[in-house]
This record gives sequence, structure tokens and C-alpha cells, in this order.
Amino acid sequence: MQKDLQDWKGEQLISCVDEPTGSLILIGIHSSVLGPATGGTRMMSYDSEEAALRDCLRLSKSMTHKFAMANFPRGGGKAVIATPPSLSEKQRRGLLFRYGLLLKRLNGLFYTGPDMGITSDDLNQIGLTAPNYVFCKTDEDGQGHQSGEATALGVLSAIKTTIRYLYGSDELKDRTIIIQGAGSVGKMLILLLLEESAKVIFTDIDIPDKRMIEKGAIFVEPDEIYHQKGDIFSPCAQGGILKSETIYKLNCKAIVGAANNQLAYEEAGIQLKEKGILYAPDFVVNIGGAMSITGIEALNWSREKAALEIANIGATLDMIFHRAREQNINTVTAALEIVTQRLAEKKEMPEYLPTA
Ligand code: PHE
Repeated sequence: MQKDLQDWKGEQLISCVDEPTGSLILIGIHSSVLGPATGGTRMMSYDSEEAALRDCLRLSKSMTHKFAMANFPRGGGKAVIATPPSLSEKQRRGLLFRYGLLLKRLNGLFYTGPDMGITSDDLNQIGLTAPNYVFCKTDEDGQGHQSGEATALGVLSAIKTTIRYLYGSDELKDRTIIIQGAGSVGKMLILLLLEESAKVIFTDIDIPDKRMIEKGAIFVEPDEIYHQKGDIFSPCAQGGILKSETIYKLNCKAIVGAANNQLAYEEAGIQLKEKGILYAPDFVVNIGGAMSITGIEALNWSREKAALEIANIGATLDMIFHRAREQNINTVTAALEIVTQRLAEKKEMPEYLPTA
């Protein structure tokens, strides 16, 4: 574990066990240099404690990169709740209530929103004990901010930028977009793309919603998705899917998707470049939900301001593509250089340096 934490280079890891359910709660505070650590809560059953820890560390770091890239005044954090394979409704409610108590005790060290395995009801439940530290709760009218939709709009902006970069025009008509995962982001993205008359091929581990197929999207089985021929492959489900075993199957010009941590390892970025596939770094593309919801709920942003900032994701990505091309480096390196620079500029000098 010490090695994992050393490689992570984060500020703090908070961990505890929820006794009544036997769940492991991990909160990674990766960086509070740009503002209070903020990120979703992911709740699922993991194969091992190590897998849960690694997910928490990687995801929290990625939040730091996202916010720094978007010039947004928040730091990176993420919570992982590793549960037993199944929980009753009552156990789940209790767990989330106690998790809320933990967030309340943290007193603003960590702000959270949705991620995999967390519904809007769950956020309401956490909000019972930690109302000030949870985003996307529903209000009295049953209305809540939808982070999936905002993320999908950001991915759409990034897809258009990429298409323009590749072909000189961002017209999506007759372009083929291959989408892996039709969850809260993927499904929304599919509908947005169909409205733009794009061709959509998609997959999901669950039976697909008929609406998407009726509107013309083509469903394929999960193991058939990688070798589909198209302009853009868009990972919108699990992370770690880009690796030698999948990259050789890809038959697309670029990768632009919403999933967090798409590259299974660093060299995967290099492998993609060698194969001539343009990679849009996930942490540049998928900030839409976290940024607009945190902006609206914590920074008093209007919906118009949020929409403008989401639309700007494409421009940031365009800048990364050009920087990478000019310097002949891969796009992840180009983006991380900017992140590192922004963090270094903001890092406050302590008022006095204690002598050792
Ligand atoms: N799941 C979001 C992400 O990975 C996290 C988030 C959503 C954080 C909404 C705050 C508000 O970016």
C-alpha cells in the first residue's frame, strides 16, 4: 500500500470500514491546491481491497487533472465504497447515511457527487447527514441537476472538435461513432449524436433501451465493439479498456469518450499514436458533469454559464491536439504538461519553512 500511495502522490487517504455492512470506504484527497477536493462517489463490489484502493487513487488523481485542465477552482478527490456483492435496500440506506456522517465530520475536506453505482436517491440519502457536501440532490420539486447529461454534452463538443480536426468540418452527418456503454452518459450521448444525424453503433452489458434502436442506433454485443469500423470510438463505461489486446482490434481514426482512466497503462497512449489513432485524453473530455454541477451548486453559476463552459471543452481539446502535433508528443503528455504547470503556479509557498 505504501508503494501505491507513493506513486499516487496525493495529499491524504481516508479509510474506514462500515461495520454493519462490512463495506470498505476509501476517500482519496489527491490535491487541494486549486480548491477543495471534489469528485464522485463510486459504489460497487470489487474483486479485492487492492482493486478498490487502486480505483480510488487513480480516479481521485484524474479529478485533479480534470479541474486543472478546465481551469476550474476545485481540487481532485474521489470516494470508493467497496460493498459486499449484494446489499438489501435497508443495508444500503444505512450505509449511505453513515457515509454522510463521515462527510459531515470531514467538514468540507471533500465534496461529492454521483459516479458508478450511485443513484440520485442515494445522493439524497447521503445528503440527509451531509447536505452541504453533496451535489446533485433532488430539490423539493423532485428536480435535480443531471450530471450524465452535462458530461454527454461535453463529450459531444469534444467529438465535434475531433471531427473538425480530422476532416476540416464538424458536420456529423454520415460520420460513424462507436459507443461502448449506454449508461447515464452513453445513452444521452447516443441520443444527441442521432439528433445530429450521425451513425451510431453501440454496446452495453445490459439489454439496450428500445428507444435508441428505434431511432436508428445499431446494437452489437460487448465483445464485438472494438473492431467496428468508424470515425470515432467512444469509451463510456469502464476504465482501463485501452491496452494491447484491444488496441490492435480498433478500426477508427480517434478515441473520444466519457469513461475515466481509459488507458490501462501509460504506454497505451504511445501505442495509439503509433497506430495513427488520435487520442482525446479522457480528463480533458469528461469534465462536463463535475464542472457544471459544481459550478451551479457551489459557485453560483447560471445554467447559461455552465453551458458556455461545457461548450468550451472542445476548444481546450483543440489546443491540446495542436500542441501535441507541434511538439510531436502524445496528447496525454501535452495535456499533463499544462496540468503540471497550472498546479505548480498555484501551489502556495508556506509562510516560513521549518528547518529540519
Ligand atoms: N462522476 C463525476 C466525474 O467522474 C463526478 C462528479 C459529478 C463530481 C458531479 C461532482 C459533481 O467526473
